[in-house]
Amino acid sequence: MQSGRAPGAAVRRVYLIGFMGAGKSSVGRALARRIGWAFVDLDRAIERRAGKSVARVFRDLGEPGFRSLERRAFWKAAGRSRVIIACGGGAVESGAIRRRLAREHTVLLQAPLSVLARRLGARARGLPLWGPDPPEALYARRVALYRSCAFQTVRTRGRSAGDVAALLAKRFG
Ligand code: S3P
Repeated sequence: MQSGRAPGAAVRRVYLIGFMGAGKSSVGRALARRIGWAFVDLDRAIERRAGKSVARVFRDLGEPGFRSLERRAFWKAAGRSRVIIACGGGAVESGAIRRRLAREHTVLLQAPLSVLARRLGARARGLPLWGPDPPEALYARRVALYRSCAFQTVRTRGRSAGDVAALLAKRFG
């Protein structure tokens, strides 16, 4: 697989980034299955390591504690090959992670906040940073961070996870 980012260089990893509800986990799993690569979901890796849910980690260790586990999970996954990595929505809060993403095949799954809110439905209540209403300020700030390191952007409004995975697999298949 070739990457446009470093012409001629083989792509070893694809990172999926985007806001909560963007579909990073479901697209990542479907894409990995299609192209026969491994799949790492950073939130799940954190939960395995901590032995508790992301929400519980936020409650017990606060956001700084969660971010530190997230950075650890990221760098571990970043050392693997032939892997699709679904990043948590806030992994881009780390400048070091953004710099790495900016050099790799990083795909931004983009959709308006209203679409993400509809997609998440009641699940939004379990997300530590979502709050009672869609977090507009956080979304606006994050979109700028995502754009700063994405190599490819896919609009996911009106597309299922399977559709998006199929679209991406064409490039990598
Ligand atoms: C977060 C997004 C969540 C999870 C945590 C923090 C964020 O991941 O890592 O609740 O800061 O945007 P998803 O984007 O997979 O929901």
